[in-house]
Amino acid sequence: MNWKSLTKDEILKRVEEALAENGNYDSIPILGIPGTYLDEDEFYRDAPFLEKAPFLKTLIANPNHIGCHTMGNKSLGIFKGTQEIERELINLCAEEIFKGEKGQQDGYVATGGTEANIEAMWIYRNYYIKEYGASANQIGVLYSEDTHYSIAKGCDLLQVKSILLPVNKTTRQIDYSIMDQRIGLAKKHGIKYFIVVLNMSTTLFGSVDEIEPIMEYLDDQRLVFKLHIDAAFGGFIYPFTNPYSQHNFANPRVSSISIDGHKMLQTPYGTGLFLIRKGFMHYVATDEAQYVPGLDFTICGSRSGANAIVIWMLLMNYGAKGWKAKMDELMERTEYLCTRLDEMGIQYYRNPHINIVTIKANSIPSKIALKYELVADTYEAPPSWWKIVVMSHVKYNVLDAFLKEVETSLLIKKLT
Ligand SMILES: Cc1ncc(COP(=O)(O)O)c(C=O)c1O
Repeated sequence: MNWKSLTKDEILKRVEEALAENGNYDSIPILGIPGTYLDEDEFYRDAPFLEKAPFLKTLIANPNHIGCHTMGNKSLGIFKGTQEIERELINLCAEEIFKGEKGQQDGYVATGGTEANIEAMWIYRNYYIKEYGASANQIGVLYSEDTHYSIAKGCDLLQVKSILLPVNKTTRQIDYSIMDQRIGLAKKHGIKYFIVVLNMSTTLFGSVDEIEPIMEYLDDQRLVFKLHIDAAFGGFIYPFTNPYSQHNFANPRVSSISIDGHKMLQTPYGTGLFLIRKGFMHYVATDEAQYVPGLDFTICGSRSGANAIVIWMLLMNYGAKGWKAKMDELMERTEYLCTRLDEMGIQYYRNPHINIVTIKANSIPSKIALKYELVADTYEAPPSWWKIVVMSHVKYNVLDAFLKEVETSLLIKKLT
């Protein structure tokens, strides 16, 4: 990874050029589009603070990036300037961060990990229907019990069978001894085609699912499958902190990847990314979207071009080196937290390349966990785990304050 950073002025210039290339509602006659600038009374287009604010400028210009722009230049021509930046962004993520071959991936800026995950499942479901003559009830989705609920949501929406795989409670890896039994049962129930979703990383534990064991098993069983990687959380961390990551397009097993900007990249909500190898998007072409030039392939339909611009801006602002340095710094803080927990004998789970530390609930008082807004594994029953995510705002002083309170509570417990 070695994309270069741009200066703030270079970023501004590039976005301004893109906006100038878009059809301007003031200067050219645009009569048929059901869109315009953001409301002029509410959003002042001449506000001085907009001058150096490319994201806000784009937000107000309000380009619609409906469709998928990596499949040829057929999309709405009046937004071609900012669509080009989205294309650059998809290529940068697919090729630089996720090691894909040049020009061999498609993708778009989705609303988030949920949409990107369901988009993948939708594509593979239709692929099996079209290419194998499958019916939805012959398609199963394999995923670990630690997987984000968006996959269960997708199974419900797409009416495909959910096949939940238990994990080993220490390693948080799929329990392969039970996998055989679960897949066997699914086959008995008529499941012939599999969509495998593996995590990089899971929401609660930050665990990263191994790819090869499950792939080898499915190969041995001569089962038909496609692999999607849910990197909604880890997508902008793990490739930078683990140079040996296999969760990318250099691995022929991987077909598609979801990533969220609005987690680690600190972009606004509504900024996820869906990436997939070329040759698959067309399985979700909505032919009925005849009035959209180039058709639509996404779940969301209309979407703000500003969301693509802001992810691109962030990546350009840091460059590969700058972003790696930022992730390394987060890792140092996470390691500091773990060292202090070790010293206190507190049990937790952590993947060494991820900034999530998940503490056994019975090892710290819940009063402290609640005070510091730790996230529980469940709010429907007494929790078993409390999660800390070392985000940008989680500085040493906050960690120290938390650790001090835990230390004091342990001391009091010991003395009473
Ligand atoms: C692993 C994982 N996948 C998917 C999602 C869903 O992402 P979003 O909330 O952006 O839809 C999350 C959110 O926490 C996540 O952690």
